Amino acid sequence: MNVDLVVAGSGFFGLTVAERCAAELGLRVLVLERRNHIGGNAYSEAEPETGIEIHRYGAHLFHTSNERVWEYAQRFTAFTGYQHRVYSTFKGRVYSLPINLGTICEYFGRAFTPDEARALVAEQAAEVAGREPRDLEEKAVSLIGRPLYEAFIRGYTAKQWQTDPRDLPPEIITRLPVRYTFDNRYFNDTHEGLPVDGYTAWLERMADHPNIEVRLETDFFDLRDEVVGRVPTVYTGPLDRYFGFAEGELGWRTLDFELEVKPTGDFQGTPVMNYADEDVPYTRIHEFRHFHPERSHYPADRTVIMREFSRFADRGDEPYYPINTPEDRDRLLRYRAMARGEDGVLFGGRLGTYKYLDMHMAIASALSMVDNRLRPHFTEGRPLT
Ligand code: FDA
Repeated sequence: MNVDLVVAGSGFFGLTVAERCAAELGLRVLVLERRNHIGGNAYSEAEPETGIEIHRYGAHLFHTSNERVWEYAQRFTAFTGYQHRVYSTFKGRVYSLPINLGTICEYFGRAFTPDEARALVAEQAAEVAGREPRDLEEKAVSLIGRPLYEAFIRGYTAKQWQTDPRDLPPEIITRLPVRYTFDNRYFNDTHEGLPVDGYTAWLERMADHPNIEVRLETDFFDLRDEVVGRVPTVYTGPLDRYFGFAEGELGWRTLDFELEVKPTGDFQGTPVMNYADEDVPYTRIHEFRHFHPERSHYPADRTVIMREFSRFADRGDEPYYPINTPEDRDRLLRYRAMARGEDGVLFGGRLGTYKYLDMHMAIASALSMVDNRLRPHFTEGRPLT
């Protein structure tokens, strides 16, 4: 194989490594991608009937406070001024999220000052005072009180985990931020926006370098014997699969998406509506046209919505969110030890480290791998372990 580096997986992690190694280190890079398109879960495409850009693997909102990542991302795309805001429907009424002073005033049906709202939540949270929460429900009540928990957390969490929150461990939530202002911007980061020409255009520009070859519909494991031990490799696929599931499977949640074209120019008036009621089977509905209000070519009489359903993943499903039970964490430690012993192969990205990473975190972590492992290997001959 006449290349300097093989990268398994063309998500943000794999493409950042490939782009830097090709452009900065002058290496010939072969990217192997199992799917029939690049970009991993950030991939987007035009829905054929309407031309509206949809995010096939769930809505992707770019935000970062990391200046290096922001500067790097802008080499490949400009960003719109999009700011993410989320609403939640509960018992036929609509509230703004994350829970803020507006949510509290709407839910309790009167005006509260910030101090009054703080005092109310503290009084309601005191129900679990003085003892360690035994389950997720108690933990959430100890943080925000029972009324807000029952409206905004209980049903949504039960649907996300297919489990009653009283049977879930308290560690799943560490904090439930309540804002005592009317600020309902979802992200607090310095920079936020959506790629002007879409995610796929951004990702394609990253891969567009004469030293980079991308082979789609190619599973790394079909070429493993030609690669491992011969060509330095960065593997961004599932960690447990690399080792033949020798220590058992790492647990993931997956999502099912139901896409529908609706005969109206606006279905819900906002990009994302959560559904907190337990008897509504989906967790949220995305309406993609609202991510790009600046696009004038979208049709005025049709729109695309996507209902999202959450469940535990089986082996054939797309792994989306690590479950991270104590057993998963034990397994992960054993797999990490095995990964350290794998000469010439570095493991990275969401699947390769069994860690949920936002896009900016995947890019930052790939840039660090180039700085700390790949550049020293290729320029100073340090071993790649
Ligand atoms: P990613 O999963 O994207 O890419 C891995 C690639 O490796 C895939 O293309 C896969 O096909 C390929 N692969 C796996 N095994 C292989 C094999 N054996 N051979 C060849 N190829 C193989 N982030 C954010 O900043 N804002 C957001 O709003 C969201 N929203 C969001 C929603 C959902 C539902 C998910 C699951 C994730 C997000 N993210 C996000 C996170 C974002 O998707 C994440 O940061 C990137 O996917 C991370 O990129 P990676 O390259 O690590 O993995």
